[in-house]
Amino acid sequence: MFVSLLATVTFSFSTLGNKQRESCGKTCQGDRNNEWMGVSLARQDKTNGKILACAHRWKNVYYESEYILPHGYCSIIPATLQGKSQPLIPCYEDHKKTYGEEHGSCQAGIAGVFTEELVVMGAPGSYYWTGTVKVFNVTSNTHYNLNQDDLSPQRYSYLGYAVTAGHFSSPNTIDVAAGAPQDSGGGKVYIFRIEGTSLVKTFQASGKMMGSYFGSSLCAVDLNADGLSDLLVGAPMHSEIRDEGQVSVYLSSGNGVMEEVAVLNGDNAYNAHFGECIASLGDIDDDGYQDVAIGAPKEDDYGGAVYIYHGDATGIVDKYSMKLSGRSINPTLQMFGQSISGNVDMDGNGYPDVTIGAFMADSVVLLRSRPVISVDVSIFLPISINITVPQCHEGPQHLNCFNVTICMSFRGKHVPGHIELLYNLTADAEKRHKSLPARVYFGNGVEQTGAVSQLFSLEINRQQCHQYTSFVRAAITAFSRYTQRQYPQDIVAVELQL
Ligand SMILES: *[C@@H]1O[C@H](CO)[C@@H](O)[C@H](O)[C@H]1NC(C)=O
Ligand SMILES: *[C@@H]1O[C@H](CO)[C@@H](O)[C@H](O)[C@H]1NC(C)=O
Ligand SMILES: *[C@@H]1O[C@H](CO)[C@@H](O)[C@H](O)[C@H]1NC(C)=O
Ligand SMILES: *[C@@H]1O[C@H](CO)[C@@H](O)[C@H](O)[C@H]1NC(C)=O
Repeated sequence: MFVSLLATVTFSFSTLGNKQRESCGKTCQGDRNNEWMGVSLARQDKTNGKILACAHRWKNVYYESEYILPHGYCSIIPATLQGKSQPLIPCYEDHKKTYGEEHGSCQAGIAGVFTEELVVMGAPGSYYWTGTVKVFNVTSNTHYNLNQDDLSPQRYSYLGYAVTAGHFSSPNTIDVAAGAPQDSGGGKVYIFRIEGTSLVKTFQASGKMMGSYFGSSLCAVDLNADGLSDLLVGAPMHSEIRDEGQVSVYLSSGNGVMEEVAVLNGDNAYNAHFGECIASLGDIDDDGYQDVAIGAPKEDDYGGAVYIYHGDATGIVDKYSMKLSGRSINPTLQMFGQSISGNVDMDGNGYPDVTIGAFMADSVVLLRSRPVISVDVSIFLPISINITVPQCHEGPQHLNCFNVTICMSFRGKHVPGHIELLYNLTADAEKRHKSLPARVYFGNGVEQTGAVSQLFSLEINRQQCHQYTSFVRAAITAFSRYTQRQYPQDIVAVELQL
């Protein structure tokens, strides 16, 4: 009999250390010593979701004289952290006692995720470190198993070292992805579809370099907002000189079809281990696309760094938008970016925040996202002016002139209803920046100026406009080659400041 759910035993964080050994089945004696509780942590993907915490070094010592069996152990803890937890020992089977065989040394929970209904646990030690994935449906209380023959399994592949779950086949179904960082030397990643109670392989991809540890970190995230999860796969020891690390981005087009669209490598820094950890952050810039953070915990001589990348309609912007350096946050931080957790609004400002672990400094850094104000700016100019006919008359002077209208509005989620915006409007900006004679200036015919600075006082979602008269320099109009000239749209430029 396959007994993996043991409702008779409860372990909780609070009993840690009281009692190291407890019976956990017919041939099961749990030993919590040095079990590494919390090696993986996940929150059930729903409101007031429960918590998954695993201890992959938890051992069954029933056959201690022959074998100590590091099955690994996970606990489903109530949302409030109070009350009874539900234990999961997915690798335990009655009367199975050999260390490497089957699930004897499976170390379940080294990686774990929790969807609305599924607990997915990586078990890289099963079958002499071929590894496997254990899936438990909390609604039906049933287990799903991998069809191991699907994989041409090899020992020491470590399948299950990393796991994730997402809508890879269709927006309404959940598939499981698992990494096998030592598979064939270069590492592999697999996606499995749930069919009945089996996991059936629908996709696989291989690492490009021996020893790169491709598949040791995974992140499922819908980058292009098409309802399908895309997949980021870390290869933190990918090396040009030494262990710079990289992340491959696979875009899903449904039914297990995944296309590699980008390879990210941060600053490609020496020994950075970029991709050791990847986390989805939610939509931090409020543009409708999910964003991700990628850790490079050994960059900068173990100070560590985290890079922020943005999703977009094509998948991902392959240049990072922001780099957070551990040392610049606090000089004492070490291995900043070894773990990242995002997509939770901690301060209630409507934007998801991110926490970043720096485990060699025993620290966690909470970074709060600021509200995003989007400003729409329009500049209206005539398409052309007829230089043979002066439009403006300043006393005795007849001048060519035209109107420039600048309009602005702003929008945003959870932003103030009123802002003040300082702007500089520059005439013929390109020529001025290059110190060339400008063709156009602002003024009232008496005073000439190349730029105006003004304050816009704006109400949310309401466009406001300012109008200026621009003059065309007389000396310029004298040149015949300008007479029929259509003025280009770059004739004025605007700079903004909140
Ligand atoms: C979990 O089990 C329930 C009840 O049998 C079933 O309706 C649901 O589809 C299962 N969830 C997944 C993700 O397989
Ligand atoms: C400019 O205006 C003059 C006078 O009205 C006219 O003769 C000429 O055709 C105009 N040029 C263009 C390019 O419209
Ligand atoms: C600029 O706009 C004003 C109305 O706002 C108009 O009276 C004037 O003729 C315009 N000037 C030119 C050169 O188009
Ligand atoms: C506007 O121009 C002034 C003077 O050149 C400069 O100090 C200021 O920084 C500019 N403001 C913006 C928003 O660029």
